[in-house]
Formats: sequence, structure tokens, C-alpha cells
Amino acid sequence: MGVLIRAEDVCKDYDAGEVKVQALRNVSFEINRGEFIVILGPSGSGKSTLLNILGGIETVTGGTVYYDGTPLSWGDLKSLTAYRRAHAGFIFQFYNLMPGLTALENVQLAAELSRDPLDPETLLLQVGLSDRAGHFPSRLSGGQQQRVAIARALCKNPDILLCDEPTGALDSGTGSQILKLLSDFNRQYEKTVILITHNENIAEIADRVLYFKDGCLERVRVNERPIKPEEVVW
Ligand SMILES: Nc1ncnc2c1ncn2[C@@H]1O[C@H](COP(=O)(O)OP(=O)(O)OP(=O)(O)O)[C@@H](O)[C@H]1O
Ligand SMILES: [Mg+2]
Repeated sequence: MGVLIRAEDVCKDYDAGEVKVQALRNVSFEINRGEFIVILGPSGSGKSTLLNILGGIETVTGGTVYYDGTPLSWGDLKSLTAYRRAHAGFIFQFYNLMPGLTALENVQLAAELSRDPLDPETLLLQVGLSDRAGHFPSRLSGGQQQRVAIARALCKNPDILLCDEPTGALDSGTGSQILKLLSDFNRQYEKTVILITHNENIAEIADRVLYFKDGCLERVRVNERPIKPEEVVW
């Protein structure tokens, strides 16, 4: 185990014309290597902002994030990009696949950008899509597209997988398959997963749940006995 991420007094303000939006207010926490974390909170509470900061997509306006003991340097875009490429995999609610590339090519593209990629064809097999490798995204269902997106995120073999409502657009059966893939990645490879959801039942699969409200981390709950993804009630 050991601490992988430490956030210390993280603040994020957005200038929206005259008014300033305080998206995150003095947020502090630690996440251990190999933990499965779920983030819950109402719309606008700062969940996506936090995830993007942890992934090096957004910068902070105050505070520090340490990754494996080293502070992310917000002023240095080059090192932030290097951090993101080396460590963070992203999965979004809408799959953001390249429409002109096949399923396999979408995964291969990510592999080409990675230092130490996993084999794209093996990953498509693992997400159950070998027979769709040559299909373009427009010919895949939502769940299939999300599985391609997962293969794409996993192919860079990230230490940390950041998921922003990955099942938000899916029916319960498909959502359950996606959760199983994320959970397998977490348990089998001891990788850290941070998942945002609006569904409190999904939080039951987490080791710990972080509750956000109005940009503040309100509460952290430990799940003594996390349930399996297939046991989630939708
Ligand atoms: N680029 C931006 N410019 C200005 N304000 C922003 C920007 N991005 C987010 N915000 C504001 O910051 C706050 C937090 O937004 P965030 O997207 O993190 O919320 P969220 O918890 O992910 O919400 P949701 O559940 O709806 O996705 C909101 O008030 C939002 O309007
Ligand atoms: Mg969001």
C-alpha cells in the first residue's frame, strides 16, 4: 500500500465574468496505492474539477497535490503533460473516441503515445471486443464504445485510472459490465481507481467514499466490506 496521492489545501477558483466561482475550497486527503475510491456529491460540487486536477488536465489556484511524494508543478506544462502521460488514464461519460479510427486503431493511437504500453489487441480481447476491432465507433453501442475507451485508457498501463461518470450514459446491465472491468483492473493489478458517480449504490464497491459539497470535502466513509460490481443495485 502506501500513499500514492496527497492533496493539501487544494483550491480552485474560476473567473466567470464579475463573479468568482470557488470550485474547490481547501480540499485535503490522501489516497493509497491500489485503493478504489468513489467520489459522490451534487452537481457543481467540484468532482470533475478535482479529477481533472489529479490527472494534470487542470491546474490549482492554491494548495499542492503530491504524486508519490513529488508535488505536481502547475507552472510547468511540459512536466504536467509528462506526468499525465506516464501515470493517469481517463475514462469519461461520453467516450471521446476518434470517429475516423476503428476500435483497434483508437487503442493503438494511445499505445503509440505511451512509454510502456500494453498490447492493444490483448486489451480488446479482455474487454470482450476482439470481434469488433475493425469497427468504427459509430457502429458500436454505447457500452461497446465505453469498453473501447477503457481499453484505450488501460493500454498505457496507468497507475491511476480516473473515471468521470463512466456508467452515466449506460443501462444497468452494460454499466455493471463496465464496473466489473474497472474493479478487475483495480484488484488484479493493484491499480488505483477514482470514480465519480451520482449513483450512491455504486459507492458500495469502493474501499472509501469521498463526499463533496459546495467545493468542500465534507466527509470520508470507509467501506469495511466493499460489494462486488455484480451486486450493485441499479
Ligand atoms: N471552466 C470553467 N469555468 C468557470 N466555471 C467552471 C468551469 N468548470 C467548472 N466550473 C464551475 O465549478 C463548479 C464545479 O464544477 P464541476 O464540473 O467540478 O462540478 P461536478 O461536481 O463535476 O458537477 P456535475 O456532477 O454536474 O458533473 C461549478 O460551479 C461549475 O460551474
Ligand atoms: Mg462533473
